[in-house]
Amino acid sequence: MIHTPVLVDEVVRFLMTGREGKYIDGTVGMGGHAEAILSAGGKGVQLVGIDRDPKALAIAADRLERFGDRVTLVRGNFSEISDHLSGGKCEGVFLDLGLSSLQIADRDRGFSYLADGPLDMAMGPDDGDVEQLLNTVSEGELADIIYQYGEERRSRAIARAIVGERSGGRIEGTSRLRAAIERVAPAKDTISTLARVFQALRIWANGELDALRTFLPAALELCSPGGRLVLISYHSLEDRIVKRFFKTEEKGCICPPDFPECACGKQPRLRVLTRRPVVPGEEEISDNPRARSARLRAAERLA
Ligand SMILES: C[S@@+](CC[C@H](N)C(=O)[O-])C[C@H]1O[C@@H](n2cnc3c(N)ncnc32)[C@H](O)[C@@H]1O
Repeated sequence: MIHTPVLVDEVVRFLMTGREGKYIDGTVGMGGHAEAILSAGGKGVQLVGIDRDPKALAIAADRLERFGDRVTLVRGNFSEISDHLSGGKCEGVFLDLGLSSLQIADRDRGFSYLADGPLDMAMGPDDGDVEQLLNTVSEGELADIIYQYGEERRSRAIARAIVGERSGGRIEGTSRLRAAIERVAPAKDTISTLARVFQALRIWANGELDALRTFLPAALELCSPGGRLVLISYHSLEDRIVKRFFKTEEKGCICPPDFPECACGKQPRLRVLTRRPVVPGEEEISDNPRARSARLRAAERLA
């Protein structure tokens, strides 16, 4: 299974300022974007690649071997980015959020509703336990998770069906979860309902939105003036967090309009480079359907 990186030319164009120094790929995955960044950058460009999944890192290590000591790979969470950049600032930080094709295709990891597998959904060894959650959580809490992280309108009925499924014994595989969801999903909307519920459980298990919220201010802090932040997200929950962060950081004074002079002292810290998100063209989507929902946003650190 090959993972085809999304919007590669656009990532290189927005991330690389022509300056030498360190660039961070916080979701190095199979190293597709990292390879393009290193190839575009020349000898003075070093890359720190982070991923929470050791299997992904092993593949990236092979793929990036030819770049020698220009590459450092670290297993960890991008939310702890400051710990992974030992000293100094960097010229650019990049995230390509979500799952790789390899993770989705590995049925033993339980990310896909299309194949039977264990209820795992952990991106790395330190991440959550969906089986434990589904077998112990209250119906109300489960409905909230499905609503908040899956934006699923029928969250209450689905949570009731999943909790009801427990009366037949501990829920242990993705097919029992799928059967419970299918009992209450409308026939014409079954696949997208499954997709939303699996997405919700995965986001919960891996603390994905909190990781992104912690990452953004830390990444901005690490960038040199003129350095770039580039992010690709694949659903509106992530994209909204990025968009709001950029908006807040590009604003100066936030004092009420009736203040005679500024008391907050807030300075703009970012210049947004993508007024609207950059999305893949039709050709890329037809070659790589996973690209369909990708949205890239980029910004530059001000002094
Ligand atoms: C879409 S893939 C990246 C693919 C990569 N750009 C490439 O070209 O091969 C997303 C990767 O991010 C990793 N990931 C997701 N959330 C993470 C987090 N909070 N910290 C570190 N890695 C994370 C996943 O394990 C996965 O390997």
